[in-house]
Amino acid sequence: MQAQTGNRILIAFFSWSGNTRRIAQEIQHQTGADIIEIAPINPYSSDYNTVLMEAQRDQHDKARPELANHVAHMEDYDVILIGYPNWWASIPMPIATFLEEYDFSGKRIIPFCSHGGGRFGQSITAIAKLAPNSDIGEGLSIHYSGGSAMVDDVTAWLGKNGLK
Ligand SMILES: Cc1cc2nc3c(=O)[nH]c(=O)nc-3n(C[C@H](O)[C@H](O)[C@H](O)COP(=O)(O)O)c2cc1C
Repeated sequence: MQAQTGNRILIAFFSWSGNTRRIAQEIQHQTGADIIEIAPINPYSSDYNTVLMEAQRDQHDKARPELANHVAHMEDYDVILIGYPNWWASIPMPIATFLEEYDFSGKRIIPFCSHGGGRFGQSITAIAKLAPNSDIGEGLSIHYSGGSAMVDDVTAWLGKNGLK
């Protein structure tokens, strides 16, 4: 038996305006992990005021937007780094769809989020409810793009979680 357990990492992220995507790509660069973009089949509007309303509606309706792509072998991963923007102080609903689609029992979920000042909001609580038998690791919150500190912040955070 190969002793390759404990650290097989998947990065799964949703991003609307690119900040979370850039953070996810930096994490990928530093870890070499597999990466998947969580994208709804019906994309959100590219207009800021419209997406604000769409996101609020989805959250209010507890919507589960259908996703365009899927993880073929979730059993291959022990650690899921899950990234998203803070939307209305919580997760965007495509993240809820993703979390309900797989069994995360015994896996470690480590959130990273880009935000406009509200840090994680209620998002960690929301994730814990949707993946009840997972172990939630220490998250990383980044203000918008994180500027020039982002790369070092990612390095430090991976280190704290024993992933580097
Ligand atoms: C629909 C929507 C709702 C948002 N709600 C919040 C919020 O409640 N708190 C906050 O700090 N930032 C909020 N933001 C700002 C985003 O979290 C921030 O711009 C983030 O960097 C976007 O990441 P992205 O580029 O990966 O989409 C919101 C942005 C959008 C589009």
